[in-house]
Amino acid sequence: MRKALEDLKNQAIEEIKKISNFSQLKDVKAKFLGRKGELTRILKGLGSLSKEERPIIGRIANEVKTFIEQLIEDKERELKEKEKREKLEAERLDVTLPGRRPLIGGFHPISLVATEIIEVFKGMGFHIAEGPEIETDYYNFEALNIPKDHPARDMQDTFYIKENVLLRTHTSPVQIRVMEKYKPPIRIIAPGKVYRRDFDISHTPMFHQIEGLLVDKRVTFSELKGTLEEFAQRIFGEATKVRFRPSYFPFTEPSAEMDIGCVICKGSGCRVCKGTGWLEILGCGMVDPEVFKAVGYDPEEIVGYAFGLGVERIAMLKYGIDDIRLFFENDLRFLTQFS
Ligand code: DAH
Repeated sequence: MRKALEDLKNQAIEEIKKISNFSQLKDVKAKFLGRKGELTRILKGLGSLSKEERPIIGRIANEVKTFIEQLIEDKERELKEKEKREKLEAERLDVTLPGRRPLIGGFHPISLVATEIIEVFKGMGFHIAEGPEIETDYYNFEALNIPKDHPARDMQDTFYIKENVLLRTHTSPVQIRVMEKYKPPIRIIAPGKVYRRDFDISHTPMFHQIEGLLVDKRVTFSELKGTLEEFAQRIFGEATKVRFRPSYFPFTEPSAEMDIGCVICKGSGCRVCKGTGWLEILGCGMVDPEVFKAVGYDPEEIVGYAFGLGVERIAMLKYGIDDIRLFFENDLRFLTQFS
């Protein structure tokens, strides 16, 4: 029996050594120490021993039992350690890895350019005025001396809501609303959204304009020119050249369009300026006496100038953008370039 216990001990050492997981450990524990296990089987034979041998073998059996328990306990601790190490390894964090920065919002390029333009005119003493985007035929056309048969009234260009009610096609109606409400002198700019039935590489159904109006007793065309030249140089750089070309608008007389030297080729001629070296950026002129009559001003006493520009067009030229639709697709790869 002494030999059987010794063998059992060695067998246990061998088997416990090979254990690599908790389920094997459980099996081995049951095999050696369980109620139907090896040790119990051997101890059942104690009864057949002599009185002298019984306590000696009993003591040895107890020692073997304690020994095996100890081995199993050690193994269990070892497995737990191993499990913990593996878990830590799997969930390893590299604390030196740079953090992920949250995406921070920025202003839309149209807002940026509009703000910049507004700031330039504010610096020259212009106040901001606003008007409704849903307008009447009277303010959008009639009071601005746009006759009934003018092509700008064509259903093709204007979004009509119902007869005589429409989405404003320009910011010029704000001129009328301001002059109806206030007496000269007036010096305002009116930024806002305008709408036209148009959609291609250089037109979107909604776009932004900034209107300017200055009215007083003595105002000259050369003041208009000086103001707009200053504006162009603040936005496009001090070296920017401007030129005024005669044009026609029903609400100004005389009328002009202002060009700036091409920002792309600097005047030598390219695809953007169609070889001319010049880019048109706004319309302007001296307020037509008919417009003053419509708001109850005396055209013999009052003079003024007005201008209107497209914000998208200025933004495209300033940033070298060749398709206006990019402003409204809101692709983050485009937008984040401006923040
Ligand atoms: N309202 C014109 C347009 O939408 C732009 C314009 C031209 C405005 C001349 C003006 C002006 O005030 O004097 O095309």
